Amino acid sequence: MICHIKIKGVLHLDWNTNLYDQKHSFVSKYGKNLIELLEPTAGEKILDLGCGTGDLAQQLDEIGVDVIGVDRSEKMIKQAKTKYPLIEFSVQDARSMEFQQEFNAVFSNATLHWIKPPSQALQCIYNSLKREGRFVAEFGGKGNVQIITNAIIQQIEESGFEFQAEHNPWFFPSISEYSTLMETVGFRVTYAQHFDRPTKLEGENGLKNWIHMFANQLFEGIPVDKKEEMITKVEMQLKELLFNEDHWIADYKRIRVIGIKE
Ligand code: BEZ
Repeated sequence: MICHIKIKGVLHLDWNTNLYDQKHSFVSKYGKNLIELLEPTAGEKILDLGCGTGDLAQQLDEIGVDVIGVDRSEKMIKQAKTKYPLIEFSVQDARSMEFQQEFNAVFSNATLHWIKPPSQALQCIYNSLKREGRFVAEFGGKGNVQIITNAIIQQIEESGFEFQAEHNPWFFPSISEYSTLMETVGFRVTYAQHFDRPTKLEGENGLKNWIHMFANQLFEGIPVDKKEEMITKVEMQLKELLFNEDHWIADYKRIRVIGIKE
């Protein structure tokens, strides 16, 4: 189960790394074709931003890339180091990284929708790149998991609780919004795409597991027994729309971008 802890008033995600590796391995599986967009070559120095438990960093390492993986979760980094002891990993927050002109590329899969404000992270990404370096990222775009989120909010409100907008942990921009932010810090945006990527959540409990893993923050302040009742109602509400024989389909919408540091 994922928990949320508050340090100095800021919410931090406390990932369950085993659940992440076992039931949500699709995160790094989908990341494999983002590596194709990155077009890494041996000898390049590449930062994997939001590396999780290190699976994509390991693939870059196998190609001969000099890769450093960073993630703001201590648990993820601990697990990454255990799985891939020869790769360099460290705990870093994208908004306060201090790398200066070190990397040929910054690569980020399924991370940037967790990071607010986005411009602070973009500035650090920009600073960390060498001139002509590239930033290649994929994350949740405008409308991502909207059907699931709307159903959760509806159940919270119908149960007599107030949904607080600041409990929504995600930033899901359109490509025009994100390209503008990239241009503001100095990137030349050479590629931007917004696409549907229906995502299979394995098993009868796929949606419930996904909510426990990724969407707990929406229920901040709600007692656990009430929350579980609401999740059951969300499942009933969405079954016809998102359940198919033996699995759920989450309504993912992604954006992919490439920016060049000029
Ligand atoms: C995503 O990868 O799009 C995502 C993952 C968890 C929560 C929300 C979005």
